Amino acid sequence: MSDSLSFNGVSPPPGLPDVATLARIATELFTALPGSPATGGNPLPSNPHPAGLSLPPGVTGPSNPTTVPFGMLPPGANVLPSSPQSVGNAVASAPALIPHAQAPNRVPDNALVAAPGYDGRFGSHVLGVPEALGASLPVPASPPHGGGSPVPGTAFYFLDERASLPATPPATPPSHADDRVSAQSHGLPGGEALRALLGNGTASTAPRTPSVPSIAPGSFYFVEAAPASGGHSSRIPQATASGHPPFDVNAIRRDFPILQERVNGRPLVWFDNAATTQKPQAVIDRLAHFYAHENSNIHRAAHELAARATDAYEKARETVRRFIGAGSVDEVIFVRGTTEGINLVAKSWGAQNIGPGDEIIVSHLEHHANIVPWQQLAAAKGAKIKVIPVDESGQVLLEEYQRLLSDKTKIVSVTQVSNALGTVVPVKQIVDLAHRAGALALVDGAQSVSHMRVDVRALDADFFVFSGHKIFGPTGIGVVYGKKDVLEHMPPWQGGGNMIADVTFEKTVYHGPPTRFEAGTGNIADAVGLGAALEYVERVGIENIGRYEHDLLAYATHHLKPIAGVRLVGTAADKASVLSFVLDGYTTDEVGKALNEEGIAVRTGHHCAQPILRRFGLETTVRPSLAFYNTCEEVDRFTALIHRLSRARRH
Ligand code: ALA
Repeated sequence: MSDSLSFNGVSPPPGLPDVATLARIATELFTALPGSPATGGNPLPSNPHPAGLSLPPGVTGPSNPTTVPFGMLPPGANVLPSSPQSVGNAVASAPALIPHAQAPNRVPDNALVAAPGYDGRFGSHVLGVPEALGASLPVPASPPHGGGSPVPGTAFYFLDERASLPATPPATPPSHADDRVSAQSHGLPGGEALRALLGNGTASTAPRTPSVPSIAPGSFYFVEAAPASGGHSSRIPQATASGHPPFDVNAIRRDFPILQERVNGRPLVWFDNAATTQKPQAVIDRLAHFYAHENSNIHRAAHELAARATDAYEKARETVRRFIGAGSVDEVIFVRGTTEGINLVAKSWGAQNIGPGDEIIVSHLEHHANIVPWQQLAAAKGAKIKVIPVDESGQVLLEEYQRLLSDKTKIVSVTQVSNALGTVVPVKQIVDLAHRAGALALVDGAQSVSHMRVDVRALDADFFVFSGHKIFGPTGIGVVYGKKDVLEHMPPWQGGGNMIADVTFEKTVYHGPPTRFEAGTGNIADAVGLGAALEYVERVGIENIGRYEHDLLAYATHHLKPIAGVRLVGTAADKASVLSFVLDGYTTDEVGKALNEEGIAVRTGHHCAQPILRRFGLETTVRPSLAFYNTCEEVDRFTALIHRLSRARRH
């Protein structure tokens, strides 16, 4: 190949050095770097192509030492790794995803669905919606604004019909002097002020769950039992070391080092907690301690570090068991996260128990992680997916759900809190009704465990899944809780080391649960980190967290909702954490970028929950999502910017 390289007749743009010159400059640069062969470090790889790089015709495979400067690729050339696709796979039998409430945009949820083959590894891209379609969808209708009164009988849980809201939305951001509610030590973030603000003391500031003070008077969560003297465990960082009284939000914030970051010159406001939560120092320290003092593979070897790592991992399992109220550690399986957890259930229990004509029920609120694995299963088995519709507030319609249940229903899989709308779903009733119909029930706790007490035995769910990173733990670790008698009858879903009792070439004898479902070396350190995160939450007290967040969400909703041009999406009476909205005159990306310029992080987009957004005629929303380290001051910064954006478009 000559130095005057051209692809498909496209030559280097004039003024660009030729390939030989580029190569010479690159060689000089790299050999001057520390670690380059010239300075005695590791040699540079001879093949600089990323794996899977699709090269233009005429250029031989990835071992070809001639690099192709990206600037010289023809327009439209594919520089993305290619992934296996098969035509047959793309058009495999479509699962019967029946939308029970068609989206107002008239795009049915199954308009473009063609199921992949059951093997999700070769899933087809056609399950998605092409970007061009999204662009062509009608702009959502805006609610009347600019002076309209709040809708009587609003479904917001913190307002009842007697609550008196201002008749007109404020033209300016709320005055801090008169009605700002500050998070306070030893109390709720302005419970008193909020009651005063809403009038006549009727606002509900009661926690969703019965008030069970987790901290006895005078015993603060940071006061812990004296660690065992001696031994390595006494040096393990404890969940909190910073002495602060129950629910002092400023002290809580000091436990999270990342909250001191500045973004675009402003203090970071982390309002993307539904995507992932930040980590307290206790979790960071626990991970560092593991790698500094305990790191080893587990359940094997006779050496000291194997014992330490195994102890730490199994202690984390016990912490999870306690945290969710499971009866036995054998009911706690470590996985990568909620997505992997639901896949485990679908591919193990589902493959064994679902057959042609069987029905799987999910709700319209589900994250794609609680839709796609069931679609794949349904397509493979000839089963059907049925969808529990929601009302205009985004709450599931239990009567409709009851109508969907029949003896064909084999499993009901629902989220406890919607990641897109924040709806708290009455999962206990859903589980009970599923059982009455003879079906099993899975509860997706990804968005609930960090906000409310979860007791899997009280809930009576057959499966409960959640992710560590949504509850202040590391990414890449999550949990499947399964009832023991259900797990014991389930086949493994992955095969390999760790999960076996005995292997010959003729047959394998598997361990019982949970090990049966943990093939290979798992994410040991992050399981330990998750244990530390749960201990941290236990010490703060989940009821304290729930109460604080409840009031913070009420405060944020109260100030966001009346801003001219704002349409809140998801107004159920019971909500947690999430404030999805659109702002008339702006794309959701524009709002997200404007917030980012102020150091405020929110997610914009479809939130991996396209069916529920389409139910409300939308493709995307702006989604601030709160956690217990957020404050009313942060909410004020956020709503002030939304006010500014609103005024800029003369709402
Ligand atoms: N499920 C996460 C979210 O809702 C990623 O943002």
